[in-house]
Amino acid sequence: MHQWTANAVKELVDQRLGDASLFVVSNREPYLHEMDGTGLRWTRPASGLVTALDPILQATGGTWIAHGAGGADRKAVDVDGRVMVPPDDPRYTLRRVWLTREEEQGYYYGYANETLWPLCHIAYIRPTFRPRDWEHYRSVNERFCQTVLEELSGPAAVWIHDYHLTLVPRLLRSRRPDITLAHFWHIPWPAPEVFRICPWKRELLDGLLANDLLGFHIRYHCDNFLDTVARELEARVDRERSSVTYRGHTTLVRPFPISVDAEHIEAAAGSEAVAREMVRLRERYGLVHERIALGFDRFDYTKGIPDRLLAVDRFLTLHPEWAGRFLFVQAGIPSRTRISAYRSLGRRIQRAVHRINRRHAARGRAPVLLLDEQLSQAGILALYRIADCLMVTSLHDGMNLVAKEYVAARRDGDGTLLLSEFTGAARELPQALLVNPYDVAGTADTLALALAMPAAERQRRMSRLRERVHEWNIYRWAGEMLGALLVTRQGRAAG
Ligand code: G6P
Repeated sequence: MHQWTANAVKELVDQRLGDASLFVVSNREPYLHEMDGTGLRWTRPASGLVTALDPILQATGGTWIAHGAGGADRKAVDVDGRVMVPPDDPRYTLRRVWLTREEEQGYYYGYANETLWPLCHIAYIRPTFRPRDWEHYRSVNERFCQTVLEELSGPAAVWIHDYHLTLVPRLLRSRRPDITLAHFWHIPWPAPEVFRICPWKRELLDGLLANDLLGFHIRYHCDNFLDTVARELEARVDRERSSVTYRGHTTLVRPFPISVDAEHIEAAAGSEAVAREMVRLRERYGLVHERIALGFDRFDYTKGIPDRLLAVDRFLTLHPEWAGRFLFVQAGIPSRTRISAYRSLGRRIQRAVHRINRRHAARGRAPVLLLDEQLSQAGILALYRIADCLMVTSLHDGMNLVAKEYVAARRDGDGTLLLSEFTGAARELPQALLVNPYDVAGTADTLALALAMPAAERQRRMSRLRERVHEWNIYRWAGEMLGALLVTRQGRAAG
């Protein structure tokens, strides 16, 4: 099997793009600038999208257009809003789009994250539909489109990302019919029954169908999308080719399972810095238990953290012999805290942790550690290496890259992955212990199984998981999607 590398993606783009330039457009930017006591500082946001795309742009070069959300972002750019990144090793251009606080509220917190996010994830949080948010969403999509147009000079391939920017493809297409457009949707696409409640469903579909290529993580999401289009629009849906022809334009709809830079993670996990972090974390938090399980998430209600804690609680109730010998560490990153559903999630998690710790403390040891330290990359890799078991119990997740990072970091070939069947990753990683997070009893039993699993069985499973993550790495995802995009581009040029 041909192993995809950064170089292979770069060659593909160089060969096939010809004189055209490559643009990536997303809401979230790969690098944020903030001011602290020592001056201008940069950080990387917690985002699956950023984790996946930054190594690609580092390899291919090009321009990434995104919202400048960092407190000191304006201080780091030139007069045109551009800055070269990564800041410590510049490889590509980041062009920032500025939004007012009110626009950010309506477009990002409101429409993207209180309408589309709960609409597309089945987590039983009701989406809100505020006309005012929609107005902001429309005008901010227009702003992104204008910024892309400012950056374009000649022929171009524009690769748009996610649910924040559904209207951008149509807006761009109407001004620049010649450019090649692809869109990758990083979250699930729901069944037509779910999507149909959205008052702006036709505008959203119309926007996306201006793309030449539309990618989802898995075939199931592609099929949901095709079913939705068939239900909502006068369009020709070709199931054999997996394409839609609408307003005289054909969009190919394809699955591209996103992944991680497995080789890089594996190498970094073996570094001195990670070894030092393992020692520090063990000492600082007393991580000396016989078995340690880990949850590591952006704090989002789709990740099923309260359900995971219920399962830990039940496991300890059914297996008191583990009290004092077992520790569950929940680490994570606060997210979208201006939205009340996210704030109440934080409170729910804290209450659950206190309850479990009161109930099951033994030998002076609490069974759950809520780790609120902001971890460095080395710290996260150290936790992956310390954890005997990673628990990913999302109620619904497009892919879940934490599961793949854990596998890539386990260079010792050991460790157990407990994985929700409602993640995209579950389709690719059947050797994980699959769970239904709504089934607390089943998840608790699976945790017991994971902790008692003989080493040979753990290693057999982990070795298959590692093969998959190495073979289907992030460069393969990008190579396949960009390859398909560039084929449609050649088709357009020939036509
Ligand atoms: C998901 C979305 C990304 C987003 C990330 C973090 O992975 O698909 O588009 O960047 O969550 O969320 P945030 O709202 O902080 O960008």
